[in-house]
Amino acid sequence: MTDDLTATLAPYGLRCEHHVAPLGIGTQAPLLSWRLRSTRRGDEPVSYRVVVTAASSGDETVWDSGEVADPAAVSVRGPELAPRTRYHWQVTVTSADELANSAGSWFETGHDDWTASWITHDPSDVDVVDAPDEGAVALPDHGLRPPVELRREFTVRTTPDNARLYITARGLYEAHLNGHRVGDHELAPGWTDYRDRVDYQTHDVTELLQPGDNLLEVTVADGWWSGYVGFDPRRSGAHYGTFPELIAELHFDGEIIGTDGTWQSRRATTRYADLLMGECHDLRREPEPWRPAVVTGDDHTRLTPAVAPPVRVTEELPAKSVAPGENGYIVDFGQNVAGRVRLTARGLHPGDRVVVRHGEALNIDGTLHTDNLRTAEATDILVAGAEATVTFEPRFTYHGFRYAEVTGLTELSENDITAVVLGSDTPPAGEFACDDPAIQRLHHNIQWGQRGNFVSVPTDCPQRDERLGWLADAQVFLPTACYNADVAAFFAGWLREVRGAQSPDGGFTNVAPKLAGVADEGAPGWADAGVLIPWHLYRTYGDEQVLTDNLDAMVRWVDFVHRHNPDLVWRHKVGPHFADWLALTPTPREVVATAYFARSAELTGRAAAVLGEENTHHLNLAAHIRKTFVETFTTERGRIAGDTQTGYLLALAFELLPDDLVPLAVDRLVELVTDAGPAVTTGFLGVSLIAPVLDQHGHPDLAHALLRRTEPPSWLYPLRHNATTIWERWDGYTEEAGFQVPAMNSFNHYALGSVGEWLYRGVAGLDQAPDSVGYRDLLIRPRLGRLGRASARYESVRGTTSSAWSRVDGVLRMDVSVPPGATATVHVPTADPGGVRERDLPVREAAGVRVVHVEPGTLVCRLTSGTFHFTAAAPPPQEKP
Ligand code: BGC
Repeated sequence: MTDDLTATLAPYGLRCEHHVAPLGIGTQAPLLSWRLRSTRRGDEPVSYRVVVTAASSGDETVWDSGEVADPAAVSVRGPELAPRTRYHWQVTVTSADELANSAGSWFETGHDDWTASWITHDPSDVDVVDAPDEGAVALPDHGLRPPVELRREFTVRTTPDNARLYITARGLYEAHLNGHRVGDHELAPGWTDYRDRVDYQTHDVTELLQPGDNLLEVTVADGWWSGYVGFDPRRSGAHYGTFPELIAELHFDGEIIGTDGTWQSRRATTRYADLLMGECHDLRREPEPWRPAVVTGDDHTRLTPAVAPPVRVTEELPAKSVAPGENGYIVDFGQNVAGRVRLTARGLHPGDRVVVRHGEALNIDGTLHTDNLRTAEATDILVAGAEATVTFEPRFTYHGFRYAEVTGLTELSENDITAVVLGSDTPPAGEFACDDPAIQRLHHNIQWGQRGNFVSVPTDCPQRDERLGWLADAQVFLPTACYNADVAAFFAGWLREVRGAQSPDGGFTNVAPKLAGVADEGAPGWADAGVLIPWHLYRTYGDEQVLTDNLDAMVRWVDFVHRHNPDLVWRHKVGPHFADWLALTPTPREVVATAYFARSAELTGRAAAVLGEENTHHLNLAAHIRKTFVETFTTERGRIAGDTQTGYLLALAFELLPDDLVPLAVDRLVELVTDAGPAVTTGFLGVSLIAPVLDQHGHPDLAHALLRRTEPPSWLYPLRHNATTIWERWDGYTEEAGFQVPAMNSFNHYALGSVGEWLYRGVAGLDQAPDSVGYRDLLIRPRLGRLGRASARYESVRGTTSSAWSRVDGVLRMDVSVPPGATATVHVPTADPGGVRERDLPVREAAGVRVVHVEPGTLVCRLTSGTFHFTAAAPPPQEKP
């Protein structure tokens, strides 16, 4: 965003369904949204108008919202639309002094009248090349088959004005048109429960077509459809399908080239390509002759336009070091990532095997640590053909790694090898900075944890044979994720999987997308993500549609738990119960479960109220569960059964206790935290709550003490061991015991990184008020701890918000930005509340500022929109704890 001093109130950052100028969106009334900026303090929108025109018909107006007097609006749902059509749209926003400014963008709808067929290569074509290899170093035999190549030649009479490729696969696909790669999506079409939906993508290929002969070539590989998925050793047939298939339609000049029996197919020379095992390129293999492709069906009912942003290459990292080791070369990329390695291999002879293994850590002896990968081989293999120099990069796999071990080469330089980072391309939304390098590093690691685990769906980890969409991990990390990136579309896509996995009687699952054959009733805190996530997305992005889409599923879930636990203590459980997973002090299962039952009932009731439902059943149910929780698990002195940090955190964060017990519970929580170190001893469910709850209940300095701690268990301890992502466990590696049990020891799990939310909200102080939705009313309340400065900037749905503070030589400076149409409550921490100034005026005289009250050490004011610069006497640095 540039600061144009002549600009008054203006819309910017236009999105359609949360995407910038998307191709191929659904035709149901799309969300058209804009953000607001202004260089004038107190600038307010009073009305907006959105006009949608159809590009193909000379920009004829197809929808006009008219002038809508709604100062709160930063979005509107457009009209029902025609398929395969480009629309332009313009929003005009008028300010209180009747100045109007506009901005425009476009979007294009997808395809809903498919005629093409699903095709593949003859699945019975299995011969000797699939057998274990005869070479010097045996190639692995995982029972995997080569990817399939499909192609179609066609003629184009004149240069087309417009051409679109609608394409997807059961498996993963990569398309080339006339030798040029189509689009930049990776691991497309992404992971869904393919039995319910297969997302298709839309590519503008106008520039790739040429008059005369054209060739469309597509490779399809197993991917999540027919490859190894999760820790279930069963592969083909056990999950979704047995061999990859393609469906595509190329539209240009009224013609359609669709997949059908006129296509040709063959097996690729690649021996196999699998997400968990890796990829094997055998350059000795001659391409096979083309055969007619096999048509496998023409079911179009499950084809859905992609909702989430695609996976892309988001960065490339050069090697930090390449060192000859006991076993080949060890390459350090300096950062634990999800992705793959691009390698230029030199000095090859036919039949040479170059093997690239991936790991997150090194063993004490400098060798690659792969014990924690379990059965995921995460190994890419190149078998050399005639060429002495080859650049090798797998296409249909990804690994979680910081290190690569390369064997089979006699030379390797840092310039020959690159880490190619993959991840769902969610637009960055937030920045956080402070003057403590360790906390800054923690934030960096949290962001990388998000990047490495948002790969089509939110996964637990990117390295071992798991990589599943575990619901609790996503739920506890969501508030942090929302600050780091715009994840509205990413989660809208995944929530289809969460709903799709719900059992007919209402049980949400533990993982989504659902895996064939895995139908367990989700655990408390896991399954409840089906309620907590829509609610948090609604609060963050202000779009009621997420509640509309999910309310029925939320209701069914709460009613399911209620049906099985009529006495309101959640005891019933089919399948695993994870309680406060990986906690150092375990919390009784029923405490965790009943707390979540109350929370889910409460949020379901609130969601119904937002959508205008009169029925207060779930709010009443929540009140009864809270009462039962207190009667069953809480003593008169406010002790909660199990007496653990997480027990108190759940009770306080979910507001389960009557007012008189709250201070007692807070005191006990503080005691437990203090006695532990002060230290955090929770698992996944407590960890996201500890800093916010301590802060909210008057102990932000204790939250800071936890943040500063460097002994285990703590967030900073892994930095001692050069962590570049968040570990699954507090003690993934210790000086005394070395690596934790390999069966469960990921170095890239984001759940414990859920403290990232408090860096933005607490340390930098950038939050929205408890009842605010879509950042309409900000709450700026920094918690200084012992830091000298901190800042956060967050691109909200309403516009840019920021909070930055510093204290130098006894002077506190605080800069705050509030977007037009929003307000803020600001808490200025100061030793002298009477002496606070805004720019060069005493704060009481400043425009757009109203002093609300003075608390000890704090001046509280209300702000209009605008940019504000406060100075004050700095509070004394925090001494204790
Ligand atoms: C995953 C977790 C997940 C858990 C369930 C683990 O294997 O890695 O992150 O939430 O199982 O307890």
